[in-house]
Amino acid sequence: MRILSGIQPSGKLHLGNYFGMMRPAIELQEEGEAFYFIADLHALTTVRDPTALREYSRELAIDFLACGLDPSRACFFRQSDVPAVTELAWILSTVTPMGLLERCHSYKDKTSRGFAASHGLFAYPVLMAADILLYESDLVPVGRDQKQHLEVTRDIAIKINELYGEVFKLPEPSIRGDAATVPGLDGAKMSKSYGNTIEIFEDEKTLRKKIMGIQTDSTPVEAPKPTDDSTILGLYKLVASPGEYASMAEAFRVGGTGYGDFKKALFAAAWRHFGPMREKREAILADPAFVDAVLREGAAKANTIAEKVMARVRKAVGLAG
Ligand code: ADP
Ligand code: TRP
Repeated sequence: MRILSGIQPSGKLHLGNYFGMMRPAIELQEEGEAFYFIADLHALTTVRDPTALREYSRELAIDFLACGLDPSRACFFRQSDVPAVTELAWILSTVTPMGLLERCHSYKDKTSRGFAASHGLFAYPVLMAADILLYESDLVPVGRDQKQHLEVTRDIAIKINELYGEVFKLPEPSIRGDAATVPGLDGAKMSKSYGNTIEIFEDEKTLRKKIMGIQTDSTPVEAPKPTDDSTILGLYKLVASPGEYASMAEAFRVGGTGYGDFKKALFAAAWRHFGPMREKREAILADPAFVDAVLREGAAKANTIAEKVMARVRKAVGLAG
């Protein structure tokens, strides 16, 4: 089974990225042949500062390795190191109905939040389909917000297969229920574009400050607190043990504890949870050549597979004999 996922280097890694995509992807690297990449071509649709893009790409690579991506199991590479993906995206775009892209939420979301309504942003799901189909992926671990892009990928693959014979296999999304949507500081979906993120490698002081700033309602200390949709509980569930989570949920129900105390417990659990990864990150930071070597080897392997698939695609559509 081949597993593939990508993540855009468009900011620092936050709890939503980690629990929604990165941790499931890392766990899946044990289950099959994994391909994970830094989606820098996708990030170009929103990041306009070249220095920032380079930095985000590098940091994301370091963070992914610190969080447990094992380069001896998973092929790890930068999207732009495999040029065939843009060629495939073009071929796919020639069969992609406009209506399919017009229905995509992410384009509407991003343009309504002020990003330039560029062709790249509109065609973003086609490039994503190319990522997935180029490596003949079976399973794609992503957060819930990416489900529609997987549907678009399948539709495009079906269209190509109808026109040209069995060129592609159809991928399946893998969306974990427990962390499908990680809440942000204001209770909405945690997202860089909402400015409500908690970064996983935040320094101690900033992490504490952010967690203490989580928005809460005005229930008095002595009263029971609503557990449904509580951001504090939602995040605590991800970083604390099941026993700790059960005790906090009980304390919410009985009342007598203020939100400030719950936040302190959340901070302690979050800091502890990412401790081993912080240590690993320090070690990787001290050895820059390691990251370069991993990405170089990943690109070489990814290109080999991509070229094989592209030879088949070019032949199927009539670009090669
Ligand atoms: P952002 O919304 O911060 O820009 P991205 O769109 O770059 O994040 O998401 C990268 C990956 O992280 C995707 O697989 C996405 O589904 C996942 N992800 C992002 N935010 C969350 C969240 N709040 N909950 C669950 N998964 C998330
Ligand atoms: N669109 C994804 C995101 O914003 C990133 C991505 C690009 C991706 N290509 C992919 C994810 C292929 C899975 C498979 O998070």
